[in-house]
Amino acid sequence: MKQKLSSGRFREIQDELLDKFNASIFFDNKLYEEDIKGSLAHAKMLTNQGILSQDEYEDIVKGLNQVKQEIETGKFVYDIKDEDIHMSIEKRLTEIIGDAGKKLHTARSRNDQVAVDFRMYVLKHNKLISAKIKELIATFVELASKHKNTILPGMTHLQHAQPISFAFHMLAYASMFKRDYERFMNSYERNNLSPLGCAALAGTPHNIDRFATANELGFREPTINCLDTVSDRDFALEILFNIATLSMHMSRISEELIIWSTSEFAFVTISDKYATGSSIMPQKKNPDVPELIRGKTGRMYGNLISLLTVMKGLPLAYNKDTQEDKEGVFDSVENILVSIDILNAVMKTLTINKEKMLKSSKIGHLTATDLADYLAKKGVPFREAHHITGRAVALAEDKGVDLSELTLEELQSIDERIGDDANMSLENSLNSRNSYGATAPGQVEKQLEYFEKFLKDNK
Ligand code: ARG
Repeated sequence: MKQKLSSGRFREIQDELLDKFNASIFFDNKLYEEDIKGSLAHAKMLTNQGILSQDEYEDIVKGLNQVKQEIETGKFVYDIKDEDIHMSIEKRLTEIIGDAGKKLHTARSRNDQVAVDFRMYVLKHNKLISAKIKELIATFVELASKHKNTILPGMTHLQHAQPISFAFHMLAYASMFKRDYERFMNSYERNNLSPLGCAALAGTPHNIDRFATANELGFREPTINCLDTVSDRDFALEILFNIATLSMHMSRISEELIIWSTSEFAFVTISDKYATGSSIMPQKKNPDVPELIRGKTGRMYGNLISLLTVMKGLPLAYNKDTQEDKEGVFDSVENILVSIDILNAVMKTLTINKEKMLKSSKIGHLTATDLADYLAKKGVPFREAHHITGRAVALAEDKGVDLSELTLEELQSIDERIGDDANMSLENSLNSRNSYGATAPGQVEKQLEYFEKFLKDNK
């Protein structure tokens, strides 16, 4: 009869079905490194406070290092009876070093243990994801720097609206990703507080030093209220929200890549390295990568909504419900890390078909607003300017050209207020949108400098 670490008060052996249902060991083993780190810090603090002897401390350090090695070399045997990673490690530690292992849990509970482990995991990944976002921003900035004068149709309602530069379009994404980066860093700062030493819920009568363990583990300081600390999971909700939002942004550029690589658009060509074929149609080249990024956004939202729902209405303090917090976070974190890498690779190897973008910009009279604005600047009431422009569009249609291709004489034939300075070319339109934050090359240059500075300041 196997006695469990936590089963002193029971007279009957727990049913296997319970073990199967209750255990988290087969997913929370991902936290082994954090768990060992936390235990090492706790043991050191207990020793400095005179709660453990120096010998006991040395045994614990030796034992935990061995456990770590066993896990990393695949020798460690996970047993469902041990329920979770915390109990598994402690049990193995005690097997290796004997009684000192049993003392490690002094002034600690699995409730603060899981809180500290999971928080360390989340903080570590906040940093990892932020670093990858910076790489992604650098790629968009680099692409933008080469395309300040590459014109494509700016759209509203997915209809041709006004000419913009490809650089401007890329920097719109850089802006989104910069905010994403800031959200992860912000969340990191807010949650960089140690739960360790909160014990089950109310703290501990032992003379512990939470500041020492916080410091040892790289946290800014300990959390202020233990009851909150062992039960709340908003640090995990934050990373799920931040990932969901980042993923939503990534799904938008993915959608554009999918549309842009159709034969109808052909604005870009995805490198063969990152495109896939069809099992039946030999001619096909499919944008599976952006489609998958777009698709994965669904599970990112799902993971966020799941945990929000798990947390809803939970009474204080720890409840087993919160064991459901981990898998969704692991899933979102692992999926976003590879998604960022592959989107970055796709963008780095993307071919930009400038000529096709330009050709497409000459469909739909994109400079119509420019003509109306030109006339309005000459004092023509805007309603009238709008009407005159309509006539110019009709003339262009009659001639089978785009408004931007009408000659000056043709334009002037429409209204005598159209002077020699009228220029409805796409280039002129682009250059004229020179207000702050706009698409003119001079403004885009300022935006580039802004993002380059951001990347430099956040090395
Ligand atoms: N496996 C548990 C979890 O993930 C650890 C905490 C268990 N605490 C408890 N009092 N049952 O939440």
